[in-house]
Amino acid sequence: MTRVLSGVQPSGEMHLGNYLGAFRSWVADQHEHDALYCIVDLHALTLDYDPSALAERTLVTAACLLAVGLDPATCTLFVQSHVPEHPRLTWLLECTATMGELQRMTQFKDKAARGHDDGGGGGGGEAPSVRVGLFTYPVLMAADILLYDADRVPVGDDQRQHLELARDVAIRFNGRCGDTFVVPEAAIPSAGARVMDLQEPTRKMSKTVSSPQGTVLVLDPPEVVRRKVRRAVTDTESEVRYDPKAKPGVSNLLDLLAAAAGGEPARLAEGYTTYGALKDDVADALVALLEPVQQRYAEVVADHGALRRILAAGAERAHLIAAATYERAARSAGLLMP
Ligand code: TRP
Repeated sequence: MTRVLSGVQPSGEMHLGNYLGAFRSWVADQHEHDALYCIVDLHALTLDYDPSALAERTLVTAACLLAVGLDPATCTLFVQSHVPEHPRLTWLLECTATMGELQRMTQFKDKAARGHDDGGGGGGGEAPSVRVGLFTYPVLMAADILLYDADRVPVGDDQRQHLELARDVAIRFNGRCGDTFVVPEAAIPSAGARVMDLQEPTRKMSKTVSSPQGTVLVLDPPEVVRRKVRRAVTDTESEVRYDPKAKPGVSNLLDLLAAAAGGEPARLAEGYTTYGALKDDVADALVALLEPVQQRYAEVVADHGALRRILAAGAERAHLIAAATYERAARSAGLLMP
């Protein structure tokens, strides 16, 4: 069976873009592959963050993933920091990756330039006050992947370069130290829907960048979902037509309808003569889609003990795999085995 691994930041509450774009395919993948899903709390330390909120966000992220349908009896869901081999393998890989490779990572350059750090160091290449961990982030991600001999790594477009680094590092290590790592597939086009911000439909829905009104959270109550959809930006025409370039707002609504209720966006458009009617149906479809998710979420968070037991069992299974891979890598690297 192919092994699939992916990771998600512990950002807490999930939005519709995360759900329809990524996690819905995680749920589908778990039935067809040996799937491991990692909540990457160590990666969350690379930007400015609130230590008093991190643990809770990690739990909320886990609860959201279970609520949308990850089944702990079918897949392995675990927290990165619970498996000590992640930082251990990272060191071996930091001694394999090069400064030049990491300096080419566009996400590092973007995040460093955005001043996502304490001192607002800013300057991209130099960025004196950017955390070292932000620079080496892709190596930790490579360790996440290589520890599990993952064949497939479903990620969004923004992670493609990191995935290629993981491949390059695996190939280099294997070349220097002998065959050790499975080289993961280069890139997986995400099969999910591309959900745009309801207020700025040319921008991807995102919790950090977008307006709160443009982002539908998976746990938004029905009346909030309806209000956000009703206020979604469209255009000054009145024709319902699927044309993402010319009519991004309307097309996003059609995409959402298709993702939530099924059908083809262009065909769905034929059933509408007004934007209002389309919005009503999108709102209904989203409310219906989210209702069972919200119910499961309420059940899952009601029992923190059970949630922690699920994560503990996941970490135990992950650790079995990771420990064996780490040992293989340490041996290949020539370390004296204890
Ligand atoms: N860097 C990824 C992101 O920000 C998260 C991630 C960390 C990841 N480790 C991973 C994704 C391993 C896939 C595989 O989205």
